[in-house]
Amino acid sequence: MSNSIPEKPDLNTHPNMSAEERLQVLRDHYRKLTVQNEQMKRKLKQMERDRKKMHSKMDKLKRRNDALQSPPLYIATVQEVIKDGDRSPAAIVKQHGNNQEVMTSISQKHAGELQAGDRVTVDDSYSVQSLLSGDADARAQAMQVDENPDVSYEDIGGLAEELNEVREAVERPLKSHAVFQKVGIDPPSGVLLHGPPGTGKTMLAKAVAREADVTFIRLAGSELVRKFIGEGARLVRDLFELAEEKAPAIIFIDEIDAIASKRTVSKTSGDQEVQRTLMQLLSSMDGFDDRGDIRVMAATNRYDMLDDAILRPGRFDRRVKVDLPDEEGREQIFRIHTREMELGDGVDFDALADDAEGFSGADIEHAVTEAGMCAIRAERDRVTPDDFEKAIERVKEDTDSDEDRNIRYAY
Ligand SMILES: Nc1ncnc2c1ncn2[C@@H]1O[C@H](COP(=O)(O)OP(=O)(O)OP(=O)(O)O)[C@@H](O)[C@H]1O
Ligand SMILES: [Mg+2]
Repeated sequence: MSNSIPEKPDLNTHPNMSAEERLQVLRDHYRKLTVQNEQMKRKLKQMERDRKKMHSKMDKLKRRNDALQSPPLYIATVQEVIKDGDRSPAAIVKQHGNNQEVMTSISQKHAGELQAGDRVTVDDSYSVQSLLSGDADARAQAMQVDENPDVSYEDIGGLAEELNEVREAVERPLKSHAVFQKVGIDPPSGVLLHGPPGTGKTMLAKAVAREADVTFIRLAGSELVRKFIGEGARLVRDLFELAEEKAPAIIFIDEIDAIASKRTVSKTSGDQEVQRTLMQLLSSMDGFDDRGDIRVMAATNRYDMLDDAILRPGRFDRRVKVDLPDEEGREQIFRIHTREMELGDGVDFDALADDAEGFSGADIEHAVTEAGMCAIRAERDRVTPDDFEKAIERVKEDTDSDEDRNIRYAY
């Protein structure tokens, strides 16, 4: 349909038209105009809607522009809040990255809510602008500091040999570094735990930190790659700095394959960034003064993908394979995870372990929870052998579909 206005008929071109015919011509014209009018109205409405959309888009862009134009704020950690009688409250804050420590006065409002250890934003003149929390505190999320991890050796089932190896390589140097000095050898630099998902690698690292009574600092490789584009290398430096501050400590880099995969052919900027992060990690480990009070551990379930550079002597030169538990291991893990459970008569751990062939520790934990749920659904307060049987079947179904999913990811 054309949008042009229908031309007004020239009644003079046909001088011999009757009055009736003329009227008809005018009527036709009028009808056309009405249709046209309707169309225009609709179009106007559409335009108005578009205009509204553009407006909201513009608003969004404006806000973004404002955000980009406002001066950047620095991240700092509150070391101490000083409230001293009638003097205005102050805080000692330490800026991340350069570790500059300053004392700055803070508002009454901030004085109420700030605590030592909080992360805040500060401006150029170090005045506290806001308290970081939740998502904003992403750096803290990537780096978890745990002074007292909640996993102990008793919570780990079936990994006696692996545990011994880890204790020897990590706990011994932390506890009695002198022995190594006497014998004149360096303890292994880094310990790499590798094996299928859910087999207790993270648990092992935590437990060893707890039993050695040192601070546990965990950094997730995947988070690092996802969230810290452009600052991965710096975060690694921060990590080692933090460890020195908190020493004795264990640095645990979980999912290290995310930053230490074999060099890929493609040279996108993302890959290069990951490369830089890896180089920083390697040089941090190399340049690391081996006083023995900081140990580095890492975990992966993609051992095949790791770059040889990280496996070289002086780096992750102690490798511990953490495999799926055997039958005895599964039995132990069942016992561990049912410790707090009310069990009905006839629950036979031996049989459960047999049924759960191929399960990882995490699968077993899942099955135990599922069995508990079965009991709750049946309004019982004891978990019966039947509940376990159902739960194990259920987990088997789930893991089968998980396998499909992994295959999909792999290609
Ligand atoms: N050997 C085990 N003994 C007891 N519980 C276990 C064991 N292995 C795994 N689990 C259970 O599974 C959960 C996950 O284990 P964990 O996080 O240590 O696995 P992981 O090997 O680090 O896995 P991923 O490779 O996926 O990171 C634990 O919280 C624990 O409840
Ligand atoms: Mg893990």
